[in-house]
Amino acid sequence: MKHALMIIVGVVATFGCHPIPVQSERTQNRTPRSPQSPLPGTDDDRHDVPRPWTNDPSSAITRDVDENLLSVLELEAIRGACQDYRNGDHSKATRLRCGKWMFFYESFGTVGIPSHLLEFLQHWYQPYFGPSFSSMGFVPNPNSNDSIPLGLAESTQRMGSIKVHAFTCASCHFGQMPDGRYAVGYPNHQLDYGRFFASMIALMKLSINPNDNSIHPLLKAALDETVQSARQRSGFMMGLGRLGLNIATRGGDAMTSGALDLTPEEQLRFWHLRTGTMDFLTKPMADDGVWTVSRILSLWNLPTSDRIEEADMPHGLLSWTGIGKSLMEFLHGFVAISGSNSEWTDEQLKPLADYIYSLRAPTATDQVNHDAVERGAQTFAQAGCLECHDGPSGEGRELYDFEQIGTDPAMKTIYNPDEDGQLCCGLDAAGDHATWSIKSPRLAGQRFRTRLLHNGSLDNLEQLLCLEPRPERHSEAQSAIGHRFGCDELTEAEKIDVIEYINHL
Ligand code: HEC
Ligand code: HEC
Repeated sequence: MKHALMIIVGVVATFGCHPIPVQSERTQNRTPRSPQSPLPGTDDDRHDVPRPWTNDPSSAITRDVDENLLSVLELEAIRGACQDYRNGDHSKATRLRCGKWMFFYESFGTVGIPSHLLEFLQHWYQPYFGPSFSSMGFVPNPNSNDSIPLGLAESTQRMGSIKVHAFTCASCHFGQMPDGRYAVGYPNHQLDYGRFFASMIALMKLSINPNDNSIHPLLKAALDETVQSARQRSGFMMGLGRLGLNIATRGGDAMTSGALDLTPEEQLRFWHLRTGTMDFLTKPMADDGVWTVSRILSLWNLPTSDRIEEADMPHGLLSWTGIGKSLMEFLHGFVAISGSNSEWTDEQLKPLADYIYSLRAPTATDQVNHDAVERGAQTFAQAGCLECHDGPSGEGRELYDFEQIGTDPAMKTIYNPDEDGQLCCGLDAAGDHATWSIKSPRLAGQRFRTRLLHNGSLDNLEQLLCLEPRPERHSEAQSAIGHRFGCDELTEAEKIDVIEYINHL
């Protein structure tokens, strides 16, 4: 049984996957503008600063922001839409509804977590994980009677003959915002990906042997009480035995090939990941061999090809290193590296892409201080922020050197490129090359984000502009030293205005 459980803990780690998008030659060869050099034609800065996109709620087909979770899920409206789409109804309404369904429930046939394991953890460890893993930042599914949260869906792929649940877009890109509303496209900065992983692995091992030396002492101490009280309940060892047997006998080859043991140091790294951040390329799946920490990005106001052209951007600059040209490529990458067992065509992915393009940063519900916003906009332009934040939603129109931003360069090595920029681990199938650069992300919707910068090391704009001290972090990949623009140059009053401006983008 011990062996079977070792295998389980290996396989649970195979779910979290992400697209490896493609990089453009043009971006690579472009020299970043220096923040000091004047922009052409900025005499009238006030009119050039990014502004909120106008939302016309009356023309909206899907309801994507609301305090009522059931209204946002609108299951009745979207159920069956993909069937209609497959049957030839390619109208906009059907496409968006089908895309929304895919966003929440499509597994893409990717590998996931054995469903029995999720059930076991909920049955015996619910006090720790919370109902439907809500203590880990998942949103419970009000339309379901089981304890599987939104963002985990039964995969069309199996592990041997075992049912598995895969991560859908909704696990990381949907959630409850600080103002209480639920929003699609919201980066789930409450999601405790690292602790979910690390504690799942540790709990399975400690269930068998509470003194297991392969578990880091810090995790062991933190989980000891949880393990002891589960072990004292009657039927626990039998439940554990059944789970092990089930997976060992029915898991098939996939179970043995995914075997993994996190070293104590690796366990600690996962444990110390802040919520809303992750290394999505680590063993036993596509492992780039480097420890990088990525914060979940929001999916609001993604620029379409028209906007990209209008803004003179090289392409979509998707992901933190700006390697991704278009959403469609990104989606193909996601399906491919997540271990999918099926092929997906552009036509099949189009509803999801169209739906994501339709998502907009929610507007703030509180009173806007228009004077402060205008003053802040002016300061934003005059202080040089606009040099790197002049795209359609306040994003950069090109990529930047890590040195130029003064940030930790750990992310530079993501996908572990060789000297020529060729990506490791078979991730270069499409001839993609590393950018070795960092993008300046879209600022729209900033007021709803509780993690800032690529590694999620900061909590708010006050820390970014050094109105509040910046926190100490555990590893270089999580350092909070970067992007000190404005910290020393702006007065306190100016900083407060800039914050007001950014908060209303
Ligand atoms: C396990 C969490 C997770 C899941 C599941 C996930 N993402 Fe992401 N997503 C992330 C993280 C983290 C990033 C930032 C990665 C980076 O650039 O290093 C990201 C970035 C993105 C970006 C780039 C946005 C930008 O502004 O550059 C897009 C687009 C995206 N995800 C779409 C999707 C879609 C569509 C799905 C479902 C098919 C999905 N993601 C599933 C975590 C996730
Ligand atoms: C040289 C280019 C450059 C300049 C100048 C610049 N930024 Fe940035 N900005 C970036 C980059 C690149 C990032 C991403 C850095 C990272 O993730 O580590 C960023 C990140 C941010 C973020 C965080 C966004 C997020 O989602 O994490 C905010 C807010 C921001 N900048 C505001 C400003 C303000 C305000 C100024 C002027 C005082 C400014 N920036 C000046 C390039 C720049």
